[in-house]
Amino acid sequence: MQHVRAGDIELAVSTQGDQGHPLLLVHGFPLDHTIWQPQIDFFVDHCRVIAPDLRGFGQSGVTTGALTMEQMADDLAALLDALEVTDKVVFCGLSMGGYIGWQFWRKYRDRVLAIIMCDTRAIADTPEAASGRKKLAATTLKDGSSAAAEIMLPKMFASATWNEQPELVERVRAMMQRNPPAGIAAALEGMAIRPDARELLATIDVPALVVVGEEDSISTVDEMREIAGAIPDAGWVAVPKAGHLAVVENPAVVNEAIAEFITL
Ligand code: MLT
Repeated sequence: MQHVRAGDIELAVSTQGDQGHPLLLVHGFPLDHTIWQPQIDFFVDHCRVIAPDLRGFGQSGVTTGALTMEQMADDLAALLDALEVTDKVVFCGLSMGGYIGWQFWRKYRDRVLAIIMCDTRAIADTPEAASGRKKLAATTLKDGSSAAAEIMLPKMFASATWNEQPELVERVRAMMQRNPPAGIAAALEGMAIRPDARELLATIDVPALVVVGEEDSISTVDEMREIAGAIPDAGWVAVPKAGHLAVVENPAVVNEAIAEFITL
């Protein structure tokens, strides 16, 4: 891991591989860059793989107050500057990483070669969902990161993953529990106020790939099909035996789809 100053924050980032397109892997909530290990291992020989821990997560610095999706998009642009990445990137976001991706596209589209959106949403939170996030933020600050892990973990996996990959479930639980409560709370506050991104979809004039686990209960197949339909040039893959974390539940299918998309 490298530790890089990006604007006002120090970010930890895994950078591996030195050929092909830069592939920017942006993790979800409340995870860290290691959720992408199957993709890092697969693409290291073909791409310059850049997998940061976002502000507030993993080994990166933490700030308090609502951490907006725009702020995290700004952090990524500053990170690319710090790493002297001048080529356009393939932006690959998972869930919250996708929320950040819409903002990255809005502000930094000249840095984007292509977009991969995995198990994410374009709509904003309902008032009920936003209020649930604020409550969970308060609970996490009071009781620790396990409180957030216990709420989030049950929503992450397909039934096959629970039955057949218990070690993966435990790895993700530990990843969630390792994150600092202040970082988790800040991201919850930020997601609660994230803007509706649907009007941006029609403006995406680079190739896009939409990836969804067939059993995703957070960003459902129907909702992601609408996202794919609204982006002018979007490919689509529904991943069997996978829920919200398709990238680790069934990485062979996801990696093959991404590899074909970026034509290795
Ligand atoms: C994620 O995986 O990033 C979260 O499920 C996003 C969310 O809670 O909306």
